[in-house]
Amino acid sequence: MDILAVNATDGPAQRPPRAQLFRLLTFLCLALSLATFTLFTNWKAHEAAVVPLNAGDILQKCRWLDLKPAPPPGFHKRTNSDRYEAGTSPVLVKNATIWTGRVSGLEIIKGDILLNKGLIKAVGTVEGRDLSGLEDLVTVDAQGSWVTPGIVDIHSHIGVSSVPLLRGASDTDSTKGLVQPWLRSIDGLNTHDDTYRLSIAGGVTTTNVLPGSANSIGGQAFTIKLRSTKERSPSSMLLEPPFTFNGTEVESDHPLRWRQMKHACGEEPGRIYSATRMDTIWTLRQGYETARKIKDSQDEFCAKAEAGLWNELEGDFPEDLRWEALVDVLRGRVKIHIHCYEAVDLDGIVRLTNEFKFSIAAFHHAHEAYLVPDLLKKAYGHPPAVALFATAGRYKREAYRGSEYAPRILADKGVSVIMKSDHPLSDSRHLIYEAQQAHYYGLSSNLALASVTSTPATVAGLDHRVGFVKTGYDADVVIWDSHPLALGATAKQVYIDGIPQLASPHTVAKPESFQRVPKTPNFDKEAANAVKFDGLPPLAPAKPGDDRTEFVIFSNVSSMYRRSKGRVEEIFSAAEDGEAGVVVVKRGRVVCSGTSAACASSVRDVSAEEIDLEGGSLAPGLLSYGSPLGLQEIQGESSTYDGVVTDPLTGKVPEIVGGDDAVIRAVDGLQFATRDAYLAYRYGVVSAVVAPKASGFLAGLGTAFRTGAAHKLIDGAVIQDITALHIQISHVGVPSVSTQIAALRRLLLGGAHGELGSVFAAIADGKLPLVIAVQNADAMASIINLKKQVEEVTESRMRITFSGGLEAHLIATEIGLAEIGVILAQSRPPLWAWDERRIIPGPPLSKATALSVLLDANVTVGIGVHEQWPWAARNTRLDVAWAVLDAGANISKADAIALASVNLERLLGVHADSHDDDGDLIATKAGSILDMEAKVAGIISARSGGVFLV
Ligand SMILES: *[C@@H]1O[C@H](CO)[C@@H](O)[C@H](O)[C@H]1NC(C)=O
Ligand SMILES: *[C@@H]1O[C@H](CO)[C@@H](O)[C@H](O)[C@H]1NC(C)=O
Ligand SMILES: *[C@@H]1O[C@H](CO)[C@@H](O)[C@H](O)[C@H]1NC(C)=O
Ligand SMILES: *[C@@H]1O[C@H](CO)[C@@H](O)[C@H](O)[C@H]1NC(C)=O
Ligand SMILES: *[C@@H]1O[C@H](CO)[C@@H](O)[C@H](O)[C@H]1NC(C)=O
Repeated sequence: MDILAVNATDGPAQRPPRAQLFRLLTFLCLALSLATFTLFTNWKAHEAAVVPLNAGDILQKCRWLDLKPAPPPGFHKRTNSDRYEAGTSPVLVKNATIWTGRVSGLEIIKGDILLNKGLIKAVGTVEGRDLSGLEDLVTVDAQGSWVTPGIVDIHSHIGVSSVPLLRGASDTDSTKGLVQPWLRSIDGLNTHDDTYRLSIAGGVTTTNVLPGSANSIGGQAFTIKLRSTKERSPSSMLLEPPFTFNGTEVESDHPLRWRQMKHACGEEPGRIYSATRMDTIWTLRQGYETARKIKDSQDEFCAKAEAGLWNELEGDFPEDLRWEALVDVLRGRVKIHIHCYEAVDLDGIVRLTNEFKFSIAAFHHAHEAYLVPDLLKKAYGHPPAVALFATAGRYKREAYRGSEYAPRILADKGVSVIMKSDHPLSDSRHLIYEAQQAHYYGLSSNLALASVTSTPATVAGLDHRVGFVKTGYDADVVIWDSHPLALGATAKQVYIDGIPQLASPHTVAKPESFQRVPKTPNFDKEAANAVKFDGLPPLAPAKPGDDRTEFVIFSNVSSMYRRSKGRVEEIFSAAEDGEAGVVVVKRGRVVCSGTSAACASSVRDVSAEEIDLEGGSLAPGLLSYGSPLGLQEIQGESSTYDGVVTDPLTGKVPEIVGGDDAVIRAVDGLQFATRDAYLAYRYGVVSAVVAPKASGFLAGLGTAFRTGAAHKLIDGAVIQDITALHIQISHVGVPSVSTQIAALRRLLLGGAHGELGSVFAAIADGKLPLVIAVQNADAMASIINLKKQVEEVTESRMRITFSGGLEAHLIATEIGLAEIGVILAQSRPPLWAWDERRIIPGPPLSKATALSVLLDANVTVGIGVHEQWPWAARNTRLDVAWAVLDAGANISKADAIALASVNLERLLGVHADSHDDDGDLIATKAGSILDMEAKVAGIISARSGGVFLV
């Protein structure tokens, strides 16, 4: 900036007048009065008047400093959305049950919705005059279906951790420094992420795309709508570009919009930079100190300029492109999203906000926030919201004390609760499932729905246009096939900016009960315990054998399922018998089941514990397979983990274990009493099979164990020492797939020696199953050929199971003919890596699902869990129930239970006679084990001779 002595009125004349005449006039008046003032003060100081040539610009800049983000004036009177795509037909949705998001999520309107010009034009009653003159009006009869605002995902990496994940499309974490407020996620946003359409199918319409958490300040986040645009560019996906985005300056009709920024603390910034918590907070303080100095010097500069003290100004208006975003934070114009887990981290950030006087929008992940609600209230300005997962936890140390009750505990304390995805880490397509689970564990239904719609919209400063079904808002709405909090709720149609996103949606018929808000069990005691025990409430099953559990009568039982000859059968049904039944259990064995008349003799004269199951059910306990459950407590901590086996295909197995012929047994590394195992037990997963963790091709021998056992030496803790041999065929970190197949061929045709030789001889003979972790259909096809080839030589049938199986549906018939079983490790297929990307998405994108296709091909199917998620074992019952719903099917409850019990046992080599009698039975209250509304009431264990009450 040059300082020149000029005639004051020359200032604005140097610059072309701005568009609006009134602004020019305002400016002239201001400049004139300023000049007068300047002349007067300078005259007093006996100095010449010195007003810079660009005084106008400077004063404009100074005025901008005080602006706060807000919708443009008249925004709510807009008649067209700025995102309206010409040619979009108006839509009238008739007869909807509309959850609007208003009145704390308590307003429900039965009626119609009119969408036009990218906006919601009317909600409830649509008047004739609203419709007059609308050409091409599309009328949709919702037939009473639930309609909600489009889902808003406040924490996603969609487009920056672009899927399929390839080296060339990983733009989430910069490695250039810990503090980088100048980075912008939009600069890495890939428009070809294959998951946009999947997330939309899950009802997600708006997404906040955050940089990663490897830096204490990872950069600026940008909020996009997920639909494709005519322009096909990242910029055109932006919901609302912040004003500085493309160099456009503030316009009166285009004022400041909220900016978004990512911060992180705790373990993550340490990952790349080996920063300690002390380092991380220091880098934040250093960054904020830099920004504060710039802000102060701007304020000082402007105070002088505005006072006309031009002579006292030295140099240019103080600014720095690298720090302008952080200066904006201090000016209250940025929504800060901060990834922080533990009390120590939350505390450090709360101190930071008070030291530098800025507020934060939300703590993300924040697994310990529910333990420190009062601390949150000390944050500068206002308490932050908390953005959570529902049941994902314990995957690293700072997530160890996470609780499924956190959403309701925080809500009870008045904290805004958001459920988020962290996509692609967890699939944002199923963000509504996070809300469903939060609701199940006690968050009220209005807040659960708000947690993925209106609350994130409000917290991100976008509640003037998204997150609500309200006249004048963006036309982003979802029509659901059931109540959105019912398990498996599927979008029948999703509108973004009024444009229908699903070309030919498929949904399946669901029971009428799915149309109401699901009932939830009472978890008051559990929630109180979570806080009382600082996040680690005792989970060990109650001791059996005390008198109370010797003799138990379950009354008001609506159905009972048992194992029978390798299958599950329904042996009692109130629906058929016309009255609720009783089940009498003595010392862990069922002595009678049926009508109370039929069981009258076995209950006579004995004082027994009676448990009213409220229409509940008894069923065989479930089995979990796929994760390191039983070998690991905390994924990120090696000392809590059995570890990884040495792979003979990629390394040299030490001679002392037998060299390359060694076979490692999972049973030798079993760890009992982990929190994930106990939680699984409490949700009906009474046993698990686990294989040694492979680093490459060869894993080792699997084992079956009880999840409720306290240690290995307890009778029955290990169900079966050796179950099957496990290997994996993959594209990652090992020699070529063809090399892996070659190794398998050689081993099966007698090329192995020693212990490995005997194991493969047993496999070739069909005496020991071979479980192959494989996702890619071409690799599966090679194995099918190899199986034929080997069987021709050995003249026996091998027992092979594919686990993973994301692409199995592509060759389902061939897999069925080869008599290979499939364990779907992820029953809701995520789209993730290249070699497993050909998933079958299921409703609403396809009628068929992986399960339905495989069952149609007569394949024996089991349902497992994600390879890295032992915490997910507890959700097995929901995975099964959901997969069966989606398969649209004719799968009886008995066959459904088999998917995660007897089928898995057969596929994994667990002998039927490993279970005495029935194995454990699970008693559930208020529904069967496959009903989300139900809660496990007790586990009946013949081996332990009692009933474990949960
Ligand atoms: C709305 O749909 C429900 C369910 O199909 C139906 O019972 C009701 O009659 C419909 N109402 C109107 C006004 O069409
Ligand atoms: C910058 O963005 C604003 C707001 O979207 C838009 O009006 C303007 O045309 C854009 N300018 C350029 C050069 O793209
Ligand atoms: C059985 O439970 C259902 C559901 O709680 C309840 O409506 C019914 O009254 C109960 N029946 C008896 C006989 O207790
Ligand atoms: C599956 O089994 C049924 C009954 O055994 C048979 O009719 C059908 O053809 C089989 N389907 C396939 C694809 O093999
Ligand atoms: C479902 O099963 C029943 C009885 O097993 C059969 O009659 C019916 O055709 C099946 N429906 C479908 C859609 O497969």
